[in-house]
Amino acid sequence: MDTARGRGAGKIILFGEHAVVHGTPALAAALGLGVSAEANAADTSRISIEPWSLDLSPDDDHAIARAFAALLATYESAQPVHVHLKVDLPGGAGLGCSAAMGVATCEALDAVYQVERSRLERGAHTLVWEHVFHGNPSGVDNAVSAAGGVVLFRRGQTPEPVVPRHALPLVIAHSGESSSTKEIVAMVGRQYERERERVQQAFDAIESVVMNGKLAIEQGELKSVGQLMTMNQLLLSGLMLSTERIETLCRAAEGAGALGAKLTGAGAGGCMIALAEDIEHAREIEKAMVPHASMTFVTAAGISGPTESS
Ligand code: PMV
Repeated sequence: MDTARGRGAGKIILFGEHAVVHGTPALAAALGLGVSAEANAADTSRISIEPWSLDLSPDDDHAIARAFAALLATYESAQPVHVHLKVDLPGGAGLGCSAAMGVATCEALDAVYQVERSRLERGAHTLVWEHVFHGNPSGVDNAVSAAGGVVLFRRGQTPEPVVPRHALPLVIAHSGESSSTKEIVAMVGRQYERERERVQQAFDAIESVVMNGKLAIEQGELKSVGQLMTMNQLLLSGLMLSTERIETLCRAAEGAGALGAKLTGAGAGGCMIALAEDIEHAREIEKAMVPHASMTFVTAAGISGPTESS
């Protein structure tokens, strides 16, 4: 059998993280960075991951091994397979690394076991993998990782592709703080249980930011997109999801003329995004952010691939 291949994209959430877990929509964009998979028939099933020097059996006591076992269990064939993943995304950064691993693995396994699936179906199928990492995943990460481009996602529904009028010139910066999506999603869940009215108001406000953000992106109104990002950031800090370092990065970006800035993904660390007028402007903003970040890169979201990394 020839080597089977798969690819899962990393992602950023432009608007709507956390509220999406509780049923409101979110807008997410695929990144050019992601995970590639190669799969071959073997004597025993294993998954190896580069550059982390991991080589796991589905029975091992490791989250990736458990996710691999959960995904393998969805196939009728018991033919053992060796999957090799190449990861070019930071983990625990809010860039959808676990979902990209799952989508890449699923595409390669589909080819090995000759299962026909559309990209949207593959995104939904990979939820079994994401459950191991996230506990209560909305499904947005795996949906956009498989679909690519920009999608409007609502839990339990087919993702809606969104066509941006212009690509979104963004700086992505890592705060250097790692965070656990599972724990942070649970923390927001506890707030929602304790203070239903306050948190529901925040979710409602986030929903209107998401829907206005979709229109602004479709119409190419970058200034409005930026203002809505900043509004979303305020609502997320009200849910205790920002940190001093993320705030410092947002201020540095705004000081350098960013149209808007916000955390992306789970928050409480991880990455933030800043919107620029164009790619050159994004590189200027990036310079102002570098002293406060552990990693930065410039990308044009809505088209494929990062244009530059540093
Ligand atoms: O995987 P992360 O850290 O990018 O976060 C995903 C977005 C959340 O809304 C926080 C969780 C979810 O499942 O939607």
